[in-house]
Formats: sequence, structure tokens, C-alpha cells
Amino acid sequence: MKIGLVGAGSVGATIAYACQIRGVAQTIAIYDIDPKKTRAEVLDLNHGLQFTPVASVIGSDDIEVLRDSDVIVTTAGAKQRPGQTRMDLAATNVAMMQSLMKQCMSVAPDALHLVVTNPCDVVTYAALKASGLPPSRVFGSGTVLDSSRFRYLLAQHAGVAVQNVHGYVLGEHGDSEIAIWSRANIGMVPIDEYVGASGVALDETGKREIFDQVVNAAYEIIEGKGATWYAVGLAVTRIVEAVLHDESRVLPVSTYLEDYKGISDVCLSVPCVVNRNGVERILDVPMSDAELGGLRASADQVRGVARALGL
Ligand code: 2OP
Repeated sequence: MKIGLVGAGSVGATIAYACQIRGVAQTIAIYDIDPKKTRAEVLDLNHGLQFTPVASVIGSDDIEVLRDSDVIVTTAGAKQRPGQTRMDLAATNVAMMQSLMKQCMSVAPDALHLVVTNPCDVVTYAALKASGLPPSRVFGSGTVLDSSRFRYLLAQHAGVAVQNVHGYVLGEHGDSEIAIWSRANIGMVPIDEYVGASGVALDETGKREIFDQVVNAAYEIIEGKGATWYAVGLAVTRIVEAVLHDESRVLPVSTYLEDYKGISDVCLSVPCVVNRNGVERILDVPMSDAELGGLRASADQVRGVARALGL
């Protein structure tokens, strides 16, 4: 199996590193327009091959390096500077994705496409439209990362392992996302009834503080070190594993919605069954009226940006 990575920046290199350590595929191929940076990342990764299960890491500034990839993960594009929102990158990164998609399809016509480049939902929609592929085969990393941040913070509150916290952040991977509090639970105890490590259950203020930290996590990290890469690297590796190992994992990836709770013609994160076919199924998650309103507002926000770019 072969993973193709487009972009040798911090996020692309960290995905390569995480995939290498976890032995997700036999080949990791990195394509970037900067040959020096690509060669440096490939050398650095290859020098650790003795200690990992992956057979080879290759890279080039020639798109041919991605030939016959099973899944292509795109991280390339302009990145957020301190103070910028993800949506500020839309025009530049949509244009890049549109030309990139055609190149990728010419060398790997059977690949699944996973978009990480921000604004993830708008760029995923652009990739889908540019490709003409079925929506199951083009999807974005979406709120898999945001949900992981949410679960981490709830785990801290609860004093339990993050693996026993269940909850999703859905909608845009960005400022209009929403937390599905009504379904969040810890070991099947609804979040409103769970008495946390501090001896109290979460009240509305506590919930707001946690959610604010989720929404603002990337801003804080970008302010401190220029970009985020570790958590997104692991989140994307999880999605790639679900695909290549045909796991049918439920993950909140960004997928094309058509008449989902009244939402149509937009890519947005909702829980999906992800396997070798890509997005095999979309789950119809019960949610409160306020949450549904938030999801629809998030859809309007993402669709609005896409429309403004002529998509
Ligand atoms: C993140 O949320 C910046 O989208 C990136 O870490």
C-alpha cells in the first residue's frame, strides 16, 4: 500500500513521521514543489527506517512520485499567520487545490483523496468538484482533530483516560464548529451527570470554557510556535489507517452533504463510517434543536465562503 503526501511542510512531514512509526503502509511518497526541503525531509525520515516497520519513504518535486498511490493526503498551501482565520486562506488554497487535483488524478486515478489544507471544508468541496469523483472518495480531515481536543479537555475535567470520553465536535473545522454536548458521555454517564475530578459536574460556564479552548486551540498554538502539527499529524494518520486497513471506523471527517438534516451542497464534518471505500456511510446523529441550528449555521458559513469563490 502507498500513501501519497502533497506538501512537505510541518504538517505533511509530521503525518509522514506518524505513518512511518505506526507502519501504516509499505511506501510513503512525498511530493512538494520545493526539492531541497523535500529531499531533507525524506533523508531525515529514511535515517530512522531501521527503527520502524515502513519499507520506504520517497520524495520528489515531480508529481510522478505519487504514481499509483492508494490514498493522497494534501497538506500543501498557504498557512495561517497569527491573527488570521482559516477562512482567510480560502481563495489561495482553493485555486491551488483545483490545479493540484488534476495532476494527482493523472498519476493516481484510483486514489482516495484526504484534504487537510485549510479551510478544510471549503478546500475539500473544491477538490471534490474539480475531480468529478464520487463524494465517498474525496473527504477532509475536518473535526477529527477538534473532537480529539474536546475529548482531551473533557478527560482532564473528568480525571479519566481520553479513550473513555465520547463526544464530537461537528460542522466547520473552524470558528463556526459546534460541540454535541447532548450526546457527550464518559463511560456511558451523560456529561451533565458526571461528577468531575474536582467533585462537581460541568455547568454551562464550564462547558463554555472547554468549548472556547477547543475553538481557540489552533490560535494559541500558532501564536506560540507558528503552526500546529503533532495532533493533526496523529489525527490524519488515524484516518489513513481507517482507510488502508479497511477498519470502518466512525470518524467526524468532512464529507459532502446532500439533504442531511436539511443541509445540502456543502462539505462539513459529521460522523462517518470510514473504510477502504472512503466515506462509506454518514450517521444520522440525534442532536438538540440548538445543536441542529448551530450545525445549519455552520453549513451556511462554509457554503457562503465557497459561493463567494464561485464554487
Ligand atoms: C488546527 O486546527 C490549524 O487547522 C489547524 O490545528
